[in-house]
Amino acid sequence: EEQSNFTHGVVRILPDGWLYPGTTPRFLNRIQSVKYRPDDVVVMTFPKSGTTWMQEILWTMLFNPNLDNPQATQPLLVRSTDISSDMMFDSVNIEDANPESLYATFKKMCPGKNVEDGIAIQCLDATPGQRVIKTHYPLDLMPPDLLDKTKVVYVARNPKDMVVSFYHFYKVLKVFNYKGSLEMFIKSFMNNELLYCPVWPHIKQAWQKRNHPNLHFVFYEDLKADIQGELRKLNQFLSTGLSEQQLKNVVQHTSFSSMKSRGDPIPDKSLYNKELHQSSGGFFRKGVTGDWKNHFSPELNQEMSKWIKDNIGDSGIHFKMD
Ligand code: A3P
Repeated sequence: EEQSNFTHGVVRILPDGWLYPGTTPRFLNRIQSVKYRPDDVVVMTFPKSGTTWMQEILWTMLFNPNLDNPQATQPLLVRSTDISSDMMFDSVNIEDANPESLYATFKKMCPGKNVEDGIAIQCLDATPGQRVIKTHYPLDLMPPDLLDKTKVVYVARNPKDMVVSFYHFYKVLKVFNYKGSLEMFIKSFMNNELLYCPVWPHIKQAWQKRNHPNLHFVFYEDLKADIQGELRKLNQFLSTGLSEQQLKNVVQHTSFSSMKSRGDPIPDKSLYNKELHQSSGGFFRKGVTGDWKNHFSPELNQEMSKWIKDNIGDSGIHFKMD
């Protein structure tokens, strides 16, 4: 029985068996030929780990530390391209795309570019100057010399909160339209049967590079616990030289409530299940650590805790769960 109406066929990409839409191999080839610039910053995450938050943090640090840049009102995904989005866009009916949609916006930005070649990637090429680039692809699927060329900020989140967030997102996005229970969803997640899975190699590949000078590894929970302190670290990593006052501006502008009040990074409301989007908040749902406690039965919790422990193994990764 189908729990999700994601019908466009999926593929598993080796060596780790990443589950992606069937169009992905074509775009993965193009990803290899993207020209990264030394001042680019790539935000890399498994979905629902705090991608949007980090994109806005980085964009604000780089381009709007005094909160006076008029460009800041553009939708985040227009200011910061998601180079892993072409595989998703291809599965919506592009010809029917709402003129407000991100896709339509991209087409306006890059007239004459064709969808088959990956419009997000082409838009990125056409963006002048320094860029904040989003990707859900893991390090292994990005060019092997990525870290020689540019900086990467990797955000990880404790898997229990991540999966709850992912579940709500699977329900809210029409392209997924997930109908199953949370329990079923979590089991599918642990069995690597959801798009973007498996999660462990995604996290571990970045974790192994955490001491690389061009990779900054940060936990969502640490951002929540001490945002000012984490921004100081980013200020060093990026050599942005922002003052304490400017960092405070960034904190204020990227707080959950101010980001939520400015609206979702995807401007096209037709992509969402409207009622659920309104009631859950879409990309800005709760923005807290430990929400999983409101959703897990003791049995499910035990099962997932074991799964996490087994997969962490001796890697040294430590998630804060509260
Ligand atoms: P919840 O669903 O738990 O609320 P992504 O951007 O990777 O899709 O991640 C989305 C998650 O990040 C959502 O988690 C969302 O609420 C949270 N988030 C977004 N902006 C945030 C912010 N400014 N502060 C804290 N959490 C934020």
